[in-house]
Amino acid sequence: MIPINIAIFASGAGSNAKKIIEYFNRPGTPGKNTRPIHVALIVSNNPAAGVLKIAGQEKIPVLLIQKEKFNTDGYLDQLNQFNIDFIVLAGFMWKVPSLLIKVFPHKIINIHPALLPKYGGKKMYGNFVHEAVLNAGDKESGITIHYVDDLYDHGEIIFQAKCAVDDDETVTSLSEKIHALEHEHYPKVIDRLLSAD
Ligand code: GRF
Repeated sequence: MIPINIAIFASGAGSNAKKIIEYFNRPGTPGKNTRPIHVALIVSNNPAAGVLKIAGQEKIPVLLIQKEKFNTDGYLDQLNQFNIDFIVLAGFMWKVPSLLIKVFPHKIINIHPALLPKYGGKKMYGNFVHEAVLNAGDKESGITIHYVDDLYDHGEIIFQAKCAVDDDETVTSLSEKIHALEHEHYPKVIDRLLSAD
């Protein structure tokens, strides 16, 4: 059976990438699709990213990318070489070029650590998001999984999950809650999307 091949794009620690790899690439834990789903490639712009170590441990090939080439040809040849069907952004800091979005229509998704459309956009990433939520006095936050379009954190929303923001919440404690939600839901949402194929 021909597998559905996922490429994970990540720039940082890669804890979400790890959970997705563990969900799909372990023997005996196939996805819901009758075709096997497989993380076939890790793509990163950051040679120091923690996700590269995870890729090494999991024996998954890595593609390190440069901005100019990414924006001009999207590394399409390399993605084709690995027969990539679906792209998952997991803490990927660069904007995805339009040409890649056109070649993978509704096949690139992202996870954002807040309830979009609130707290999205260019400078809204990592702890800046949690700081903004706390400064606004919001009583809840959460995660958003969405399709990627030409604007930051803007494409059609696929899934959201919420958590409470407690009175004594800190950036660190909120970040931990959000990561736990991400780890619980991102692999399952990917599975559900690919099983609808
Ligand atoms: C996650 O919080 C995700 O929402 C955001 O970047 C973070 C990546 O974390 N887009 P990790 O590298 O997967 O630990």
